[in-house]
Amino acid sequence: MHTKQVIDQSDKYVQTIPNEPSKHEPWHGFNDFSFKNGLEMLFAFLIPAVIAIVAIFIQKNDMDIGRKNRENDLNISQLQRDSDEQQARYLANETVFSNYVKNIGDIILYSPVRFGAQQYIVTRALTSTILRQLDLDRKRLVIQFLYDTTILQRNTNIFDTPHANENHINLEGVVLDQVNFSGILNLSTIMLRSVSLVNATFSNSNLDASDFSNSNLDASDFSNSKLIGVNFSNTKLSRVKFVNVELQKSDFTGASVENIQLIRANLSQSTITNEQISQALFVYNTILPNGTYARNKTFIKNGDSKQGLNQWNITSGIIEVKDSYFMGKNNSTMIQRINITDAKLYSSYPSFIYCLSFLVHGQENLMIQIIQLNQKRVIIDVNNINQIISSSCNRTSSSSLDFCYWSYCKASIDETDYIDLKFIFGYTNDPTNIIAVKDIEFIITID
Ligand SMILES: *[C@@H]1O[C@H](CO)[C@@H](O)[C@H](O)[C@H]1NC(C)=O
Ligand SMILES: *[C@@H]1O[C@H](CO)[C@@H](O)[C@H](O)[C@H]1NC(C)=O
Ligand SMILES: *[C@@H]1O[C@H](CO)[C@@H](O)[C@H](O)[C@H]1NC(C)=O
Ligand SMILES: *[C@@H]1O[C@H](CO)[C@@H](O)[C@H](O)[C@H]1NC(C)=O
Ligand SMILES: *[C@@H]1O[C@H](CO)[C@@H](O)[C@H](O)[C@H]1NC(C)=O
Ligand SMILES: *[C@@H]1O[C@H](CO)[C@@H](O)[C@H](O)[C@H]1NC(C)=O
Ligand SMILES: *[C@@H]1O[C@H](CO)[C@@H](O)[C@H](O)[C@H]1NC(C)=O
Ligand SMILES: *[C@@H]1O[C@H](CO)[C@@H](O)[C@H](O)[C@H]1NC(C)=O
Ligand SMILES: *[C@@H]1O[C@H](CO)[C@@H](O)[C@H](O)[C@H]1NC(C)=O
Ligand SMILES: *[C@@H]1O[C@H](CO)[C@@H](O)[C@H](O)[C@H]1NC(C)=O
Ligand SMILES: *[C@@H]1O[C@H](CO)[C@@H](O)[C@H](O)[C@H]1NC(C)=O
Ligand SMILES: *[C@@H]1O[C@H](CO)[C@@H](O)[C@H](O)[C@H]1NC(C)=O
Repeated sequence: MHTKQVIDQSDKYVQTIPNEPSKHEPWHGFNDFSFKNGLEMLFAFLIPAVIAIVAIFIQKNDMDIGRKNRENDLNISQLQRDSDEQQARYLANETVFSNYVKNIGDIILYSPVRFGAQQYIVTRALTSTILRQLDLDRKRLVIQFLYDTTILQRNTNIFDTPHANENHINLEGVVLDQVNFSGILNLSTIMLRSVSLVNATFSNSNLDASDFSNSNLDASDFSNSKLIGVNFSNTKLSRVKFVNVELQKSDFTGASVENIQLIRANLSQSTITNEQISQALFVYNTILPNGTYARNKTFIKNGDSKQGLNQWNITSGIIEVKDSYFMGKNNSTMIQRINITDAKLYSSYPSFIYCLSFLVHGQENLMIQIIQLNQKRVIIDVNNINQIISSSCNRTSSSSLDFCYWSYCKASIDETDYIDLKFIFGYTNDPTNIIAVKDIEFIITID
């Protein structure tokens, strides 16, 4: 009897409470009880309904996918007969991919709240099998799907197994070479350990706190991405493009970094070492682990003369090495050839801006020649600078020579593979008129 009244009341409560203010008084004292039971009843009805809806949805999906697959199969054989192989491969990819999504969806829907070892093993096996069969775009979709379902997110741990704690889904050995993950994507905390990602693109993405440890990222592109706290330990990062990136607190322990490109990279509090930075192809406007700016990478060897004239070819007269500067007279000439083949090859820009700068004393008698040569070392451009007009000079120092700063930037020609820098120390009658240069830098900028 009580129960019935409670049910009635709860129904009214749910449907028409604003119209029943008068009933409030008689039911005083029952309110708590009826409300609680009402909710229970509501859920008792709702849950089977939700399950039914989900079941219908899945069944419909099954039917849809089944019908689509049969249709695809028909279309595939049709297309193969028409020898339109490209279309056939496209449809086969589509089928494989939609089956995969359905299978993983089933695992997620029909699993208990926590995933166990079985679900883990099946998911891993399905995933590595599928990734071998798919084209680049669908590989990306698979990774995005696994990320969205939290399976590839660090710290989510939806698998309740000791393996998973270590690896989440272990994609070890999976090949994702050349996959383009770029876009305004949020892939923060993604786990891509021990994966091959050669030539992959991750530009314009948020990859904060991701884990790429032990992966091969050779020649991949991370331009304009957020990479704070990323684990790059023991990764292959050779030739990787880090252009306009936030790499604060990232872990570079054991990473191989030959010809890495560090352009406007913030490496503050990261574990990258000086030895690793010295292997970079470009270092330009980059912040070091201690928060200070790194020296821009200069392509000149021994621009400060500390190693003597080694690397400089004296083609005329005598050049003396004093303190830290080069001194010459009577048209003595020194040349250094800069090989920019690698810079061009790995930056994938046909031309770029180069900047030559140095400190000079006796500028009115110095001449410079900048000679561009092609791959066969044939001269394709000669630029004579007969007048060095510098801006900032230190006229105050009394002990040694005063030096003025001079810099010059220009775009290279597309075919240029070598640049010869020629310094000609002019002729003066006055023996006290010394001509000297130091801190010669040649920087390649990519903006
Ligand atoms: C199969 O081909 C037919 C006719 O070309 C087309 O109408 C149908 O949409 C195709 N089915 C699939 C799943 O692509
Ligand atoms: C998917 O497309 C790629 C590239 O076209 C092809 O190599 C691969 O065989 C296709 N997959 C299937 C299952 O046909
Ligand atoms: C990657 O995809 C983005 C956006 O779809 C595109 O702009 C970019 O050119 C692609 N990059 C490569 C290397 O394919
Ligand atoms: C990106 O995703 C992470 C984890 O899912 C979240 O914490 C973060 O707020 C997201 N960031 C943005 C900009 O959406
Ligand atoms: C990466 O790209 C380079 C140049 O575009 C190409 O020669 C090389 O085969 C690619 N490697 C892989 C594994 O895709
Ligand atoms: C990066 O991952 C390795 C194992 O892959 C682990 O040993 C190391 O502690 C991680 N680094 C950080 C900073 O978490
Ligand atoms: C920052 O680190 C660089 C490279 O290790 C070093 O040369 C420089 O002196 C350091 N600067 C400060 C202020 O510690
Ligand atoms: C690197 O070069 C840029 C542009 O030439 C300049 O603005 C910047 O100050 C240089 N950085 C250092 C540390 O010299
Ligand atoms: C120095 O320059 C001369 C003349 O340009 C050239 O013949 C010679 O091979 C160069 N030597 C070296 C070591 O580059
Ligand atoms: C220095 O070179 C200039 C221009 O090439 C020439 O006119 C002058 O005679 C040369 N002087 C000496 C001492 O070689
Ligand atoms: C210039 O550098 C490239 C790439 O490192 C190398 O193959 C080539 O032999 C170099 N050229 C010379 C003249 O040393
Ligand atoms: C001028 O002197 C200051 C302080 O001694 C020094 O930091 C700066 O690099 C000098 N500039 C030139 C052009 O020598």
